[in-house]
Amino acid sequence: MAEISEAHARELAKQAARKEDLSRSVVADLSGCQRILFEAGCGHGHWLCDFAAAHPDIHCVGIDLISWRIRKANDKKAKRDLGNLHFYKAELAEFLEVLPPAIRFERTVLLFPDPWPKAKHHRRRMVQAAFLDEVARRSDPGGEFCFRTDDRPYFDWTLEHLEAHPEWMIDEAAPWPYESETYFQSLMSSFDSVVAKRV
Ligand SMILES: C[S@@+](CC[C@H](N)C(=O)[O-])C[C@H]1O[C@@H](n2cnc3c(N)ncnc32)[C@H](O)[C@@H]1O
Repeated sequence: MAEISEAHARELAKQAARKEDLSRSVVADLSGCQRILFEAGCGHGHWLCDFAAAHPDIHCVGIDLISWRIRKANDKKAKRDLGNLHFYKAELAEFLEVLPPAIRFERTVLLFPDPWPKAKHHRRRMVQAAFLDEVARRSDPGGEFCFRTDDRPYFDWTLEHLEAHPEWMIDEAAPWPYESETYFQSLMSSFDSVVAKRV
């Protein structure tokens, strides 16, 4: 029992140190920045590098859980000298905890997120009511939530969550914000997209 609680305490200490490091980097990089385009689960950063290059006036932030994917994304950013773009190795909930509350999202993008097909794993999907609440809190009216996947059950799950949410309205007429193939998109023969707007 003592061993379990020691291991647990070590894990909590590691988590606190990780969040402190992340918070320091985010605060230093984004000081003075009020609005961002946020991509969760950016993978190798293909889409976000292209978007940031095409929109030099927009601050762009991408996060991913996997270190080597973020290393590849940062290599691309450095090659193209994109000063308006920041990538972080971070888990979504932890990132949202440390992101200064004054930073607003003008657009939030999820591209081919892991579908977690088994029902017992659905709680691991990034799209959850609590996530849509947090993104809504950080978005002004008209702010966008853009989602694309090849997995039809995850697409339906996302439509249901958006339809049930009082602060998001699906906008079928809204254009997809920017076309550039992601790594996972290049592997898929078809996919579905939805854009919702903050009410
Ligand atoms: C299927 S890949 C898609 C990557 C990229 N968007 C693309 O289309 O090529 C999903 C990515 O989401 C990341 N991811 C999954 N859950 C995450 C979470 N809770 N926080 C941050 N990243 C997450 C994974 O590490 C993975 O790189």
